[in-house]
Amino acid sequence: MSVLISSFVFVIQIFTIFADLPPMTKCKVSNSTCLKTMAQTAVPVFAVGMPEINMEPLDVMEIDIVKVDLAGLNLIINDSHVKGLKKTVIDKLSIDTVKKQVNLVFHTDIAMKGLYKASGRLLILPISGDGQVSIKLKHITLNTEKVSHLLKNREYVKVEITMPYEVTKNSEGKDVIDLKSYKYKTDVKTDAHFQLSNLFNGNKQLSDTMHTFMNENWKALVQEFGRPLFEVPTARIFKSIKAYLKTHPLKEIVDV
Ligand SMILES: *[C@@H]1O[C@H](CO)[C@@H](O)[C@H](O)[C@H]1NC(C)=O
Ligand SMILES: *[C@@H]1O[C@H](CO)[C@@H](O)[C@H](O)[C@H]1NC(C)=O
Repeated sequence: MSVLISSFVFVIQIFTIFADLPPMTKCKVSNSTCLKTMAQTAVPVFAVGMPEINMEPLDVMEIDIVKVDLAGLNLIINDSHVKGLKKTVIDKLSIDTVKKQVNLVFHTDIAMKGLYKASGRLLILPISGDGQVSIKLKHITLNTEKVSHLLKNREYVKVEITMPYEVTKNSEGKDVIDLKSYKYKTDVKTDAHFQLSNLFNGNKQLSDTMHTFMNENWKALVQEFGRPLFEVPTARIFKSIKAYLKTHPLKEIVDV
């Protein structure tokens, strides 16, 4: 657990240098209130990334290609930019040392822009187009724990992730958290907005009909097609947290 604390101490040092924040004491690994505050402090650092330890920027997040081939829809989105994670609000961070699981809950708004090519069918309507796409999702919640009860009354897009870990030694023999994998699921309870240019070869009437349909049926769309869209961002977030924990001895992050 010290690994987590160390990471946060490192983060706090950065802030002390650049923002003159008062130094914080390490959290006890069992103190989720303290961990949550630390995680919130770390959000801007994760957003910017740390290339030297393999943490790519999370905001803006650049994604080369996303392919959706599902339920009759054939969609490719290239060169996309995902924005919003730097405004993440941490709802919960806890470390279960018995189950060896890190659990994180947060929410934010997400906007994705890119180039798309679509063919096939979108739920009940035929679709074809090739142009720019913009997708906005409000109040995304990323939840690394199965704590749906925390969120069930809120209007959120929710993503749940669980990250089991092992404690291993780094090259200096210090304990670090090695995240092994992650599981997540999404639940959408909020507003999504879609905008696609050049649908149906620029036919305005067909395009307007499709936009009305999409924006009225956003919930069904996110439920049906959200998973492939969340796949890469979730993998990137996991990769960043893993890289951070692997390079920051547990003792420097938390009091075990
Ligand atoms: C948990 O940490 C907070 C500070 O973030 C502190 O105020 C509180 O006393 C701590 N609780 C326990 C049980 O140590
Ligand atoms: C996406 O990139 C692939 C491979 O470079 C290309 O074949 C495809 O036409 C591109 N699609 C769009 C929508 O830009």
